[in-house]
Amino acid sequence: MNTSLRILLWLNDRFSMPSTPPRGDPDSYSEWEFQVAKDLYEEWYRSLVSFDRKFILDVGIGLGGNTVYYSLQSQQGQVHGIDINAWHVRQAKRFAEKKGKSENILFELADAASLPFADGTYDIVISNQCMEHFPNPWKSLGEMRRVLKEGGMALLEFPPYYSAKGAHLYDHIKMPWCQVFFSDATLVAGVRAIGRARAQCMPPSQKEAYLKYTETQVDQFLRWVNKMSLCRFRRVLYRSRGWRMIVFQKRPSSTKTRPLIYLPFLEEFFVTSIRLVLQKRSTEHITCFDFVREDIRWGIMSLRNFANRVLGRLRAV
Ligand SMILES: C[S@@+](CC[C@H](N)C(=O)[O-])C[C@H]1O[C@@H](n2cnc3c(N)ncnc32)[C@H](O)[C@@H]1O
Repeated sequence: MNTSLRILLWLNDRFSMPSTPPRGDPDSYSEWEFQVAKDLYEEWYRSLVSFDRKFILDVGIGLGGNTVYYSLQSQQGQVHGIDINAWHVRQAKRFAEKKGKSENILFELADAASLPFADGTYDIVISNQCMEHFPNPWKSLGEMRRVLKEGGMALLEFPPYYSAKGAHLYDHIKMPWCQVFFSDATLVAGVRAIGRARAQCMPPSQKEAYLKYTETQVDQFLRWVNKMSLCRFRRVLYRSRGWRMIVFQKRPSSTKTRPLIYLPFLEEFFVTSIRLVLQKRSTEHITCFDFVREDIRWGIMSLRNFANRVLGRLRAV
């Protein structure tokens, strides 16, 4: 065992397990996605755009929980969901049937970088937790733009690579920002060592399945995490023509770290997710002023919220 792997394992023991989505059965995961979409809709989408009577495309559906929730909000509309993983598409279909939703929802196996839909089909395109996975994010964003109607909206949300859990290895490696301090080879060796150690304590019937799951995690990290940092994502947006930026919100993990997300360089590590709303406008393109404007807007809003909280406490005294 080399020194960096030893340091990783030693440090890892000093951290507690972060909260992770339910891994047990597929239906619990789909249900968890359904709840996440509900929270996102109530907190964010609802105030931006109505889903009712809209033609919506969900790109990268996972196990379909999000998509099924959107179809509930689009009673008179139509929702399509695509994913590159055939098993995900099958589970999404099963979950939709379980929820009694199959009339205004359609799932298809497809690559985000080559969508099998005509130009200008959709009113809204949504892609949650995917920009950090697409092998070709620029092309995928271009495809989302192509299938949107002029004036249609793209709603995106994802965690940048250098955020605390950005390596997506949290099922095994508890240490936050592990990808900042260790090489890919050390992380892979770490996941395998942790997987083996955990499997040792399991009954023989579960051992093999857990070791297989550990290998899936390694594969996921090496093949399906594209290392999309904030800086790289801004470059993707500059290159993508024909968008108007409506929202670019950097979100911190806690109010204490919020000031750090407005500082160059440190933002890479303290922004836990990005929420982005783009509108298809053929004659426009995104410039650096859009990012500055959005930082000022959200900065002022959080200062105002902070001031209100302080005033509230003072009044209570
Ligand atoms: C983390 S899941 C997100 C699922 C869901 N949107 C959510 O927020 O819970 C990422 C999904 O993107 C899919 N994906 C990755 N690359 C893709 C591609 N090129 N085209 C379509 N789907 C892709 C994966 O199969 C996976 O289901």
